[in-house]
Formats: sequence, structure tokens, C-alpha cells
Amino acid sequence: MLKKRVEEALNAQINAEIWSAHFFLAISLHFAENGYPGFAARMKYQHQEEHRHALRLMDYVIEQGGKVELQDIVDIPSDFGDPVESFEQVLVHLMRITDTFDTLLDVVCDERDRATRAVLDWFVLNQVKEEAEISQIIAYLKRMTNENGYYMMDLELIKKY
Ligand SMILES: [Fe+2]
Repeated sequence: MLKKRVEEALNAQINAEIWSAHFFLAISLHFAENGYPGFAARMKYQHQEEHRHALRLMDYVIEQGGKVELQDIVDIPSDFGDPVESFEQVLVHLMRITDTFDTLLDVVCDERDRATRAVLDWFVLNQVKEEAEISQIIAYLKRMTNENGYYMMDLELIKKY
């Protein structure tokens, strides 16, 4: 059984993950529309990942006898700029999601909810992995900030995703 504060904080995180899924869908479309199928595929994969994260947390809330409350999805950016600017926006976005996990964990630790903490451990480590991967893409792109460089990186991601 979840404590009320933990249930509310988990609901905030579920809605943040859905918002995140939508953010990645928007940026995937941006890349697809601008001739970068590899970047688009990577972002679409991330969209599906974020959706899975939301479902995973929803299942846990239900399993614990809680209630999931979905909110409207708002504030999705529509202007992403060139590939470097776009991936920089992705990194800022991921860091914002990491912050929401930290806020959630503060509540969970405060309420001494060990089960929820165990569930969240995977998510916290996954954020580190995701931020590192996007930082690496930004670093590569910055070494070759021209169409050739973007094209090479895009091809690289087509092979991977
Ligand atoms: Fe996520």
C-alpha cells in the first residue's frame, strides 16, 4: 500500500514520463522533416522508451493499490534548431527529468518507502546512461559542425536504430 505523498509523487513522475515521451516524438518529427532519418529514429526509439517508463511506473502504482491520474500534455517545444542545438535541448530535457526523479526520491526516502526506492533505482541509473549517450552525440557533432559531420552521425544512428 502506498502512502498518499508517495502516490502523488509517483503520479507526478508518470505524467513527467508521458510529457517526456511526447517531447521525443516532437523532436523525432523535427528531424524527420529536416532530412535526418537517423536522428529521427534515435528520438523515436527514445519516445518509445519514455512511454515504457510511464507504463512501468503505472503498473507499480496499480500493483500497490494506488490510483493513476493522467494530466494534459502541455508545453512541448516546436522549435529545435540545428542538430547541435536540438541535442542540447535533449540534454537539458533529460536533466529536467533527472531532477524530477530526485524530487520523487526525496519524498520516498522521507516516507521510508523501501519498495518504491528499489523500483526507482533502475530509473536513476538509466538517467545517467541516457545523459551520457546524448552528451557523447553532442561532443561528436561539435567536432564537425557542418552538413558532412551531421550526415555521418545521422548514418551512424540509422545503423543503430
Ligand atoms: Fe524516462
